[in-house]
Amino acid sequence: MATLEIRDLHVSVLTDEAPKEILRGVDLTVSSGETHAIMGPNGSGKSTLAYSLAGHPKYQVTSGTVSLDGEDVLAMTVDQRARAGLFLAMQYPVEIPGVSMTNFLRTAATAVRGEAPPIRKWVKEVKEAMAGLEIEPEFAERSVNEGFSGGEKKRHEILQLELLKPKIAVLDETDSGLDIDALRVVSEGVNTYQANNNGGVLLITHYTRILRYIKPDAVHVFSAGRVVESGGAELADELETNGYVRFTSGATV
Ligand SMILES: Nc1ncnc2c1ncn2[C@@H]1O[C@H](COP(=O)(O)OP(=O)(O)O)[C@@H](O)[C@H]1O
Ligand SMILES: [Mg+2]
Repeated sequence: MATLEIRDLHVSVLTDEAPKEILRGVDLTVSSGETHAIMGPNGSGKSTLAYSLAGHPKYQVTSGTVSLDGEDVLAMTVDQRARAGLFLAMQYPVEIPGVSMTNFLRTAATAVRGEAPPIRKWVKEVKEAMAGLEIEPEFAERSVNEGFSGGEKKRHEILQLELLKPKIAVLDETDSGLDIDALRVVSEGVNTYQANNNGGVLLITHYTRILRYIKPDAVHVFSAGRVVESGGAELADELETNGYVRFTSGATV
């Protein structure tokens, strides 16, 4: 049982001019086996929250706390966070020319698990996960994300998720740019990860359609850098009907 606790988190982004405050007091708790959806308009700070949790150097925490099972996440380096069981699937996955998927995955799994997985077991594990996500075998030899379509990049994020088995997964717009078949495959991947590992999922999304496949226990509306309302799955239905207007009028980012 793991719990990620975010308390009154304030974050500024470093720009060429003065630092700009983006997160303005985020409170959120995600535990093993739970799925929390964060929904909000463009520019409300959703990706900033994801990057801050991952430890991106451009995002400076000015106050507040983040803990994983009581351990201070903000005091950890990026790789310590990963080893502690935090995972981030980025909205815009980076390309790493010259590093094959297969080397990348094995290196990451070795780092996170603390030892190299036995080769035969590993090969089988990767093969099965790739098949489940409908990723062609030849992708294993391609450079990480290089020349991948948007949908292929997203499927590889979920492949990492399934292989790294984090305690808490933060998925930033994993649904964006997916056609309906890819959306189903990716959603099933997230559900498989969660079922196999009792994972906690923080699902950041702009649209409600992914919530047809991944059932949230809680929905949080994000506006101007904080959670402004929380509810059950019915809150997503309301957003589908009415949009974000009720939450954004008068708000400044
Ligand atoms: N590196 C950056 N430099 C300047 N502004 C940034 C940077 N990152 C984020 N911002 C600003 O922070 C706000 C929130 O962005 P973001 O977290 O990406 O929102 P969302 O993911 O909800 O669309 C936006 O106004 C964006 O322009
Ligand atoms: Mg974003």
